[in-house]
Amino acid sequence: MSARWSRRGFFRLAAALGFGLPAAARAKTGPGKPAATPTWRGRPPLVVCSRGPEWGRPVSEAAWQVLASGGGVLDAVIAGANVVELDPRDDSVGYGGLPNEEGVVQLDSCVMYGPTHDCGAVACLEGIKTPSRVARLVMERTDHMLLVGRGAQRFARAHGFQVENLLTEQARLEWLRWKENLSRDDDWLPPRDGIYRDRQGRRHGTINVLGLDGAGNLAGVTTTSGLSFKIPGRVGDSPIIGAGLYVDNDVGAAGATGRGEEVIRSCASFFVVECMRRGMNPTAACLAACRRIIAINRRNGVTIDFSDKFVAVNKRGQVGCAAVMGSKKKPPLVAWRDGSGFHSQAGPYLLTGRGKNWD
Ligand code: GLY
Repeated sequence: MSARWSRRGFFRLAAALGFGLPAAARAKTGPGKPAATPTWRGRPPLVVCSRGPEWGRPVSEAAWQVLASGGGVLDAVIAGANVVELDPRDDSVGYGGLPNEEGVVQLDSCVMYGPTHDCGAVACLEGIKTPSRVARLVMERTDHMLLVGRGAQRFARAHGFQVENLLTEQARLEWLRWKENLSRDDDWLPPRDGIYRDRQGRRHGTINVLGLDGAGNLAGVTTTSGLSFKIPGRVGDSPIIGAGLYVDNDVGAAGATGRGEEVIRSCASFFVVECMRRGMNPTAACLAACRRIIAINRRNGVTIDFSDKFVAVNKRGQVGCAAVMGSKKKPPLVAWRDGSGFHSQAGPYLLTGRGKNWD
């Protein structure tokens, strides 16, 4: 992995911005090749998911079914997010998410609805499997935008949500292994199998679902269990409007995954949407946010050993994604569903490597 600007990285960026490459080269896409511009075309209505086919297909299919049967675009994106939130096999979102350093699952989510510019969010929410639904209620049934911790849980219970144990056996065992391996100087002895797993294994898994209906209205949702084994109370980008999600009904929508601290301090999803407002296609806008994150860290002399990824859709139904870091084996992926079926596509990245805290 290298944090330096590579020649290839420069050309990827230049290509995504449409500079200096012949039309034929600009039309190529995929890892190791110049980034696509213009980017992939969908045709509204469509729903977009920040995952590859494994989760992207069921998520976007669930969201699409809502849109196709006449449901609202916000109903659709939340239905998509609920697929992952309710499935314990995913250890980074909702039920089954990895806990904080005390073994407690704390969830973050936000929603934003383009036609009204309304938004709602919850952070550090414990015991509720579907934080995205609670975030929506914050938007629709309060005069606030963000509820956290016990207050968020009390609000959810007032609306009939059940408080449940979100820590699956698999997540508990992974947390225990992490805790037992933290230090040789504490009283938690290492596991008998002696398998050591270091902090590289910590993750920021998140999911964004964005939607554009036939009338041109946009909505989005971001949901996560945040950084695994985080300090209790830590909040990442996912429930922060403008960081983990931003929707502007005149322009488009964008969402972020990866290391949330970087996304917050660059207001990255807002930045992606503003780049699209200035005329960039979604891929170029996502790359611009990645470039900004790299520049901020370089200025501080920080070695970049993490990744952030952005997905975006514009008002015309063009879809794009890009990441700070990737590889031929693990490029950033975006999935979407429109009237012609399911689609999944790799996007460009600026630095080659895997990085820790991978999404
Ligand atoms: N992007 C999720 C987090 O950092 O919490």
